[in-house]
Amino acid sequence: MNQWLETSVFYEIYPQSFFDTNEDGIGDIPGIIQKLDYIRELGCNALWLNPCFLSPFHDAGYDVADYCLVAPRYGTNEDLERLFEEAHKRDMHVLLDLVPGHTSTDHAWFHESCKAEPNEYSGRYIWSDSVWQDVAKYAGIAGSLRGISPRYGSVAVNFFSGQPALNYGFASPTESWQSAVDAPEAIATRNAIKDVMAFWLSRGCDGFRVDMAGSLIKNDPEGAETIKLWQDMRQFLDERYPEAVLISEWGEPDKSLKGGFHMDFLLHFGPSHYLDLFRCEHPYFSREGKGDASAFVSMYMKNYILTSSRGFICIPSGNHDMKRIGQYLDCEELKLVYAFLLSMPGAPFIYYGDEIGMHHLDLTSIEGGYERTGARTPMQWNREKNYGFSGASEEKLYTPQDKAKDAPVVSDQMEQENSLWHEIQKLIRVRRQYPILCASGKILFVFCEPDRYPLVYLRYSDTEKILIVLNPSSEDVTCSCSYREKAVIYSHGTPAVLKDHVLSVPAESATFIEAE
Ligand code: NOJ
Repeated sequence: MNQWLETSVFYEIYPQSFFDTNEDGIGDIPGIIQKLDYIRELGCNALWLNPCFLSPFHDAGYDVADYCLVAPRYGTNEDLERLFEEAHKRDMHVLLDLVPGHTSTDHAWFHESCKAEPNEYSGRYIWSDSVWQDVAKYAGIAGSLRGISPRYGSVAVNFFSGQPALNYGFASPTESWQSAVDAPEAIATRNAIKDVMAFWLSRGCDGFRVDMAGSLIKNDPEGAETIKLWQDMRQFLDERYPEAVLISEWGEPDKSLKGGFHMDFLLHFGPSHYLDLFRCEHPYFSREGKGDASAFVSMYMKNYILTSSRGFICIPSGNHDMKRIGQYLDCEELKLVYAFLLSMPGAPFIYYGDEIGMHHLDLTSIEGGYERTGARTPMQWNREKNYGFSGASEEKLYTPQDKAKDAPVVSDQMEQENSLWHEIQKLIRVRRQYPILCASGKILFVFCEPDRYPLVYLRYSDTEKILIVLNPSSEDVTCSCSYREKAVIYSHGTPAVLKDHVLSVPAESATFIEAE
């Protein structure tokens, strides 16, 4: 396991919207470099960059046209290499976004594979052998494109229509046109993606967040062949780039960690109950106190037990695919959210702008964002033109910005000592000061009853114990607790008190208690 992950706190950057240095209204890599010190000051020491490669941007760059070329609007490959170097100088690490499941229809591989004459790329995507034989009905395939090429066939797509699925084969082929997982064309696709990883790792990147990692092998309901494929990818990395980190967008950590991923994301869809905490009608972290964290906790613990000591589960504040957390909770409520995120095992991820509680905006879709667009607006740095994001004229900005009077900005929050920004900075410091609060310190839930507050859990090792006590609700509450208080190491609001095996927890408070 890479040692730096142990104390990592990630910052996700949507490059379009972070910081624009060439006044075209779109963020760029030199802009990210300029803001590295800012990210470090907040306390984050690792970055995940959404795709920054050549693309027609029908899905914000998740439709790659050239895996080995930075999109000109973001800069050059040299800029990206400079970002790796500058990050490393600051003891930070950078993960790129690898999209192995599909390319854009603009990719040169796809152009070749559309040709009627067989060539090296004919088997790079999943094609049927007749244009009348639709591939869309087969397991693991999202849809199809038909009648778009001289080639006589229909081709599978993996997500949107502009994202043809790369061919890694079928776990159990049922049609003659379906490749086996070890067919030469399926192995060639695998090797092509290994080359892409090697290309960026040899230039200083530290690893990848892998898009739709569980989607590669089709008709593989239990994921057994997909797991094997990733084991093979991991073996390749272990031989050539053993330090390379892989994080999966899979949502089934028992599977992805078996495949060799270091960490898996907790997703906002599927069975995780992540939304119960921050993004539903009655979020647990709302002060109204009508939430329920128990289903989340039981799912989390199930996965934790299945995966502990093999890798981590990552809990994000948000990401570019879901509504901003600031849509549901205000900055005071968010302080308790971060007390939770930054005291859980694994690696926490902060989505750019969530450190100041940026709002979700209701916007017309751009680049295939649809309702996600409102979570992808340009960063609000200060009260100057375009909130300091860009010197371009307002109409050129990637998306409109928040017009609300209470739109949060970084500069205000850095000045105000009691801001959300400072609370996060403080929490990250506390996390790093106590190794058992970091990635692999163990966890045990002490109090988490359906429809009840507080939420209490223990982070511990053989020799140390820290009790995390969270009460987001506006009512004082109590619960029983068999530990004894030694010292309070962090609190927000009025600290909880542990006496005679009873925890008294004031409204809207977070307390970290060294215990025995
Ligand atoms: C997941 C990414 O996070 C999302 O933004 C994208 O649209 C799909 N995968 C397709 O690549």
